[in-house]
Amino acid sequence: MKNTLSYVIENRILKKLVLSKSVDKEILRTTGRLIEIKGEIYLALESFMADGKAIQKNYPESEAVAKITELVPSAYKQVNIITSQGDAEIKVSKKDKITVIDKIKREKTNKVQIEKNNRDKNYIIPDGEPVDFLIELGVQDKNGRIFDKKRSKFRQINRFLELVSDVEADIIKGNDLYILDLCCGKSYLSFAIYYYFTKIKGLTIQMDCVDLKKDVIKYCGDVAEKLGYKGLNFVCGDINDFKIKRAPDLTVSLHACDIATDIVLAKGIDSSSRVIMSTPCCHHEMMGQLKPKGEVTDVLLKHSILKQKFADSLTDALRCKVLEINGYEVNALELIDPEETPKNVLIRAVKKGKMSSGDAEKLKAEYKEICDMFGINPYLWDAFAK
Ligand SMILES: C[S@@+](CC[C@H](N)C(=O)[O-])C[C@H]1O[C@@H](n2cnc3c(N)ncnc32)[C@H](O)[C@@H]1O
Repeated sequence: MKNTLSYVIENRILKKLVLSKSVDKEILRTTGRLIEIKGEIYLALESFMADGKAIQKNYPESEAVAKITELVPSAYKQVNIITSQGDAEIKVSKKDKITVIDKIKREKTNKVQIEKNNRDKNYIIPDGEPVDFLIELGVQDKNGRIFDKKRSKFRQINRFLELVSDVEADIIKGNDLYILDLCCGKSYLSFAIYYYFTKIKGLTIQMDCVDLKKDVIKYCGDVAEKLGYKGLNFVCGDINDFKIKRAPDLTVSLHACDIATDIVLAKGIDSSSRVIMSTPCCHHEMMGQLKPKGEVTDVLLKHSILKQKFADSLTDALRCKVLEINGYEVNALELIDPEETPKNVLIRAVKKGKMSSGDAEKLKAEYKEICDMFGINPYLWDAFAK
């Protein structure tokens, strides 16, 4: 047992430990994973209790194996070790004889990503504190524990809020804000933004969240009503047809598919949104248009995987340019760790007023030159920049 445990911890291949068949009937099970706190590795053990509570304790890496061998066989009669290279099972007989069934491959090491302890991080919505909408949307349990499968969503929400808070002086010009989430889907972000401005900042907001999916919009509307989130409206429909009520203080969109992102940007520009924040999703439009037109473009477009990456970058770079032409100061930022999703570019645009016609003409000429070079005609250009 010690060998198996040492191997999976030292080689950083441990995904999860599950200690079950607890002697203490108050403990349903205990799970373990490796975490990083201030650069040091710990084994985080979390015990799920019969009364619904969860108790977490961290042990330094040097004490991890000793801790498990102290608990097995005395406190638990079974351990499942899940790793990136196969699993192992430790069974304890009635006479406390330990059997190890080890199917972990030793020839390679696929290290797992070790999470940094969120409690150390100053999240806007702290880890471990129950928040009504996170509980309702199934991100955390009623004690504030983030479900394993929802950790990356939790990080994404917090990171987005951090990036909102960086520009809040440009968003908050009064205390009655109008905010849009276009292509909101299940609306984790809409709820988070609503929560941020109303519960954390103490403002009144009107927020319209629009998506094509009837069932999802109905579900989100019901959740908003249940939570008493007044002013948070969910609208089923095409964002093309949505009538924006007044100049938004903030327009957001997370992973709107293909040119839906362009429609969001066009709507934001057209309605003079103070701030626009959009994380694009899949990029298809440009792939169909890009044509090599000379030595430089031949090199860039020769290999299809590189062509795809280039098409994604070019699409987003030209989106930024259209926003600039329309008087926005633009940043392209990383939303979350690229290992979690490749769709992690956030375009953040803050309205700075009209630029001089000379400057706008210069940017338009640059834009046209790039489009001519690659034989492309992006949707957003047609919608706006002419
Ligand atoms: C990848 S999902 C992202 C949903 C959500 N923003 C999120 O990050 O969880 C894209 C969403 O865009 C919606 N969508 C795509 N085109 C749309 C359009 N023209 N009008 C309204 N919604 C649209 C889809 O219904 C889908 O829910």
